[in-house]
Formats: sequence, C-alpha cells, structure tokens
Amino acid sequence: MPQRVLSGMQPSGRLHLGNLLGALDNWRLLQEDNECFFFVADWHALSTNYEDTSQLQTFIHELLIDWLAVGIDPERATVFIQSHVPEHAILNLLLSMITPVPWLERNPTYKEKQEHIEGRDLSTHGFLGYPVLQAADILLYKADAVPIGKDQLPHLELTREIARRFNSLYTPVLVEPKELLTKFPKVIGTDGRKMSKSYGNTINLSDSEPEVRQKLKTMVTDPARVRRKDPGNPEICPVYDFHKIYSTTAILDQVNKECRTAEIGCIDCKTFVADSMVERLAPIWESRKTLEANPKRLEDVVQSGCHRATEVSRQTLAEVKDAMKI
Ligand code: TRP
Ligand code: SF4
Repeated sequence: MPQRVLSGMQPSGRLHLGNLLGALDNWRLLQEDNECFFFVADWHALSTNYEDTSQLQTFIHELLIDWLAVGIDPERATVFIQSHVPEHAILNLLLSMITPVPWLERNPTYKEKQEHIEGRDLSTHGFLGYPVLQAADILLYKADAVPIGKDQLPHLELTREIARRFNSLYTPVLVEPKELLTKFPKVIGTDGRKMSKSYGNTINLSDSEPEVRQKLKTMVTDPARVRRKDPGNPEICPVYDFHKIYSTTAILDQVNKECRTAEIGCIDCKTFVADSMVERLAPIWESRKTLEANPKRLEDVVQSGCHRATEVSRQTLAEVKDAMKI
C-alpha cells in the first residue's frame, strides 16, 4: 500500500557518495510507489551553523541540484524548502509547549554533538529544541514512514512520544510515524574511515572527473601491501569496497584474485575502480550541468513543491489548533 513518506536533509555542504548510497538511492526508490515529501531542512542547519550563514543559500541551491540530478523526480515527489513553509515554525512552537525539557536533554545526539563540535556555543535554545522542530516537520504531513539513518532514530522516537502526548492531551490528530532504516552498509571514505564531511574524506557528487580520479589515487589500501610485489587482501581494502559497489562481477573477480597474488598493483586496481565510478557518475554530472544552466527550472520545482507542502501542512495545523482550542 502506498504510504506517505517524508524526509529531510540539512544544507550543510556538498553531497557525497555516502549520502547518495545511504539516502538518496532509497528516496528515489520510495518515490516510485509512495506519496513522498522531501525537503531542505535549512532551519535545522542554523541550529549548529548560526554564526556564519554566508554559505547557506549556496548550500540549499546545491542540495536541490544534487537531488534532482540523482533522480529525485518532482513530478512524483514534493520537493520543498522548510523555511518557505512557515507552518513548520508554528507547529514547532505549539509542540514545544507540551515537550518536557528532560526528554530533550536525554537525547543522545544532543549530548554527543555538544561535546564533539568544538569552537561553537551549542548551549542554545534552538539546538536543544532541534528534535521538536524535526517532530513538527514530520507530524505536519502525517507521514507514515520516515527514511533515515540510524543516527536519527532517537529523533524519530521523540517524534512519536510528542505525537502520543499531543493525542492523549487533546484529540488524536497526529500520526505516529515509523522509521525506514537505510539498509546500505557504511560507505568508506578515501582515508578508510566512514565517509563523512567532517573527516574531509568524501567523494562529492559535484566533483569533476579529474577530482574523482585524483581522490581515488590517494586512497588508502590494504596497509600490508607496501610494495608492488606484496600480495594484498581485498577484504580489508577500502578500494575494494568501491569495487563492490561500482564494478562488474568480472572486474570484481579479477581484482579479488590478482590482488592476492600481486598480479595487479594498486595503481591499476584504482584505475579500474575510477573507470567504473566515472561511468556511473557521468549521467549525474550531465544533469547537474543542465540544471545549473537552467535556474528557472529549479525555481519552478521549489515553488510548486512549497505550494503543495503548504496545502497539506495548513490542513494539519488547522486540526491541531482546533484540538488545542486556539
Ligand atoms: N535531522 C535530520 C538530519 O540531520 C534532518 C531532518 C530534519 C529530518 N527534519 C527531518 C529528517 C524530518 C527526517 C524527517 O539528517
Ligand atoms: Fe586494494 Fe586493489 Fe591494492 Fe588489492 S590491488 S590492496 S584491492 S587497491
């Protein structure tokens, strides 16, 4: 049965292969037979990046281009920007009235980020209230399902708790969403750690072909394979992880065999993977170019997406206000 699916992403930099494989490929599949809402969570980006907002508009723009370039289809899915639908802020405010502060202080991502992000004062109201805004994003659309990564589970659990509290205090108008966890295993970055913007080890959708090839060239391999004649073990090599994603079984088998016998060297191996990857990324680069040359198209997509999002969110907000007698 088709469901209403909603998800969002913060515009906090360029999208990389980890985002593509971990989230966007999933979104693209979901849009085939569900009613999908995908939005740019620009207010959420302010919760950690409120000081320097000079890049925000660029990031929003780039994010939308990336989405469309990988095949998010505005004919099927509603694509919009959070801050263009002020109903999110109103529901955020109303839900904040019924959300106990200890629920927010207990949130693991709150503590973790506060400890790990240095050089920024995150003792703000907005940062503490991050999950309430996220709950508003979701509940406003009565989403049945929310595709997310594991790190977002506590936020979804809080969303359900807030919905339950609302429904029991007033009338049951809010829908408790379930999560759709992305099945894709962690994508490894060029340094062998999880691919993440904060590690500076990403391959971005907006990278050019020479950039992708260069990044792969410097990628770490099986550390035991120091010299060309040393045999390697593909199972512990991050380059082989990329082969698994992008290469044909023929190449996969060849690498698997000839790495162990030192018949091929890492330089050849990386050229193979670069070729496979470039082949898969080329259509994305092509559509990025087309979209960049046509800003009107992006504007239209956002405008009609925001229009549709407003319709749905106004309806829910009216029910919420009615339930709260305001
Ligand atoms: N917190 C999410 C993230 O950082 C982004 C987000 C904001 C979101 N609102 C949402 C995701 C609503 C799903 C549903 O990835
Ligand atoms: Fe990794 Fe390929 Fe080198 Fe083997 S040949 S260690 S799989 S890069």
